[in-house]
Amino acid sequence: MRHWPLTRLTLTTPDLVLRVPDDDQLDELAQVAADGIVPPGAVYFPHPWASGTADQTARNVLQNHWWARGDWHENNWRLLLAVLHDGRVIGQQNLSARDFRVTREARTGFWLGRHLQGHGFGTQMRAAALHLAFAGLGAERVISTVFADNAASRRVSEKFGYESNGVRRLAVDHHLVEAHDVVLTSERWHGQDRRPTRVEGFDECRHMFGVPTAPEPVDAVPRVGTAKPRHGRNR
Ligand SMILES: CC(C)(COP(=O)(O)OP(=O)(O)OC[C@H]1O[C@@H](n2cnc3c(N)ncnc32)[C@H](O)[C@@H]1OP(=O)(O)O)[C@@H](O)C(=O)NCCC(=O)NCCS
Repeated sequence: MRHWPLTRLTLTTPDLVLRVPDDDQLDELAQVAADGIVPPGAVYFPHPWASGTADQTARNVLQNHWWARGDWHENNWRLLLAVLHDGRVIGQQNLSARDFRVTREARTGFWLGRHLQGHGFGTQMRAAALHLAFAGLGAERVISTVFADNAASRRVSEKFGYESNGVRRLAVDHHLVEAHDVVLTSERWHGQDRRPTRVEGFDECRHMFGVPTAPEPVDAVPRVGTAKPRHGRNR
């Protein structure tokens, strides 16, 4: 799409491709969500968009993408990327920020279809988002929020060396939830043996994030590596 350069942004990890979905991919993504993301009864998101019926969940995904595109502003943006494995959509990686040019702080979120969890994909998705944030956009901090009982998400942050940024109490669907805020600084990220991510199409859309110049070349030199060859816990 000529006038929406985000559609040419592509992040590639050893096993995944992340990109703004076209209509067919968005439809596929909605179906993945409809097929189930969280275990029955679990609450992993501040807004329980994935806890209703399959139809409601699918529609929430579609409307969230349309809203994020329509509401995009260089001072307040939400990049919602479809995640593809072997050409099939398997989940979503988010990167968002408000007043990024001043705060240099971005937030991530992510989810996978249930039967696709536990294969190391979430770790690669987070790595790709962190690469775009730190190497591409020049972020100084990337934050995330995870609920106390979400062991997989907490572990992914732990693997990247996030530090605690406090604990909040939230009411979700009238239930008390403990939300753990975590933060990864640029210093800690740059000090790591990073997972490889290739970025294409970033120069054309850099201005949409409110960052006119790149702090460093965004194309990482890929180090050979693949997702863990093990079975998912939720099969
Ligand atoms: C969170 C999510 C995206 C992570 O993706 P994933 O592909 O499952 O994660 P990975 O396989 O890369 O890594 C998960 C890690 O958590 C660990 N883990 C998973 N379940 C665990 C448990 N119950 N107890 C302890 N550790 C656990 C895994 O062993 C792995 O760590 P390791 O690599 O050191 O072995 C995915 O599980 C998901 O979509 N969950 C539902 C939606 C969600 O919670 N989104 C995030 C909201 S904050």
